[in-house]
Amino acid sequence: MKVEKHCPGSVDGKIDESLKEEILKLKKEKGAVIMAHYYQREEIQDLADYIGDSLALAQIAATLDAPMVVMCGVHFMGETVKIISPEKKVLIPDSEAGCSLADSCPDDRFAKFVAEHPDHTVISYVNTSAGVKALTDVLVTSGNALKIVSTFPADEKIIFGPDRNLGAYINNETGRQMLLWDGACHVHEKFSLEKILKMKADHPEAKILVHPECKQPLHVVADKVGSTAALLKYAMDCDADTFIVATESGILHEMRKKCPGKKFLAAPPEEPGCACNECGYMKLNTLEKLRDCLRDEAPEVIVDSEVAAKARRPIERMLELS
Ligand code: 13P
Ligand code: SF4
Repeated sequence: MKVEKHCPGSVDGKIDESLKEEILKLKKEKGAVIMAHYYQREEIQDLADYIGDSLALAQIAATLDAPMVVMCGVHFMGETVKIISPEKKVLIPDSEAGCSLADSCPDDRFAKFVAEHPDHTVISYVNTSAGVKALTDVLVTSGNALKIVSTFPADEKIIFGPDRNLGAYINNETGRQMLLWDGACHVHEKFSLEKILKMKADHPEAKILVHPECKQPLHVVADKVGSTAALLKYAMDCDADTFIVATESGILHEMRKKCPGKKFLAAPPEEPGCACNECGYMKLNTLEKLRDCLRDEAPEVIVDSEVAAKARRPIERMLELS
């Protein structure tokens, strides 16, 4: 996978206006809705009909009546929309936009893990394949995981997958001992505690915002742990004017738009000059690929109908419990 630093649709940092017009025209012709996750390139976020975190995108998808949805995000997000609304044509600008966390939990290995613990309720993070969702009792996102896990009795035996950091965070917060799948996101695990503390020493007034997919020591020093939407809300509501943000750097765009005058510092990646606080999968989507995908109605997200039928219930349960 290649991490593209610059959008091929940009010329000298400027967005090609005719490309944007082309996209808007195609969108209208096809009756399509464009959804974008906060980790998308700025120019895609600015053009989208809806932007949000994984929870908001799933909630919005459940209410849409458009015949076509372009999910500017990663593949599992497109699958979630398709599972909720099998009658819609769901497109994704780049079919290679996967997710290292979802990949850390292959269907067959997870099926074996579940079979080895038949008395356990299976709670999975939405960052999973449709096949893993089909093995799950209820899904969660980082925005509702604490709330949903807390609806189960304290002594409920629970398998939680695939993110070990989010799972450990929930265990700590709720005093539970969920059995954790050993998966992680290659972006969120890369933040260095040492460098964040150095940044905090240079900006003692700054609040530290941390996504729960980051490693546990970061949770401990955080002023706020939460989903991208929760971190954004905290920054908007908080009196502080400087924030150190430990999650994928795409969220900084919306933070700066929503909080003019406040300062947002991207938590430093482990290696100087490395773009490892960017999700290379998310950044595969570009304006040009968005235009092509609307024009060609491809790549289309397809989910096997039997798998989708099994995966729908845990998504619906999540939406009911959110
Ligand atoms: P949220 O959208 O739940 O904040 O999750 C972040 C993420 O990594 C999505 O892939
Ligand atoms: Fe997956 Fe991590 Fe990228 Fe989110 S940031 S899509 S969890 S690889």
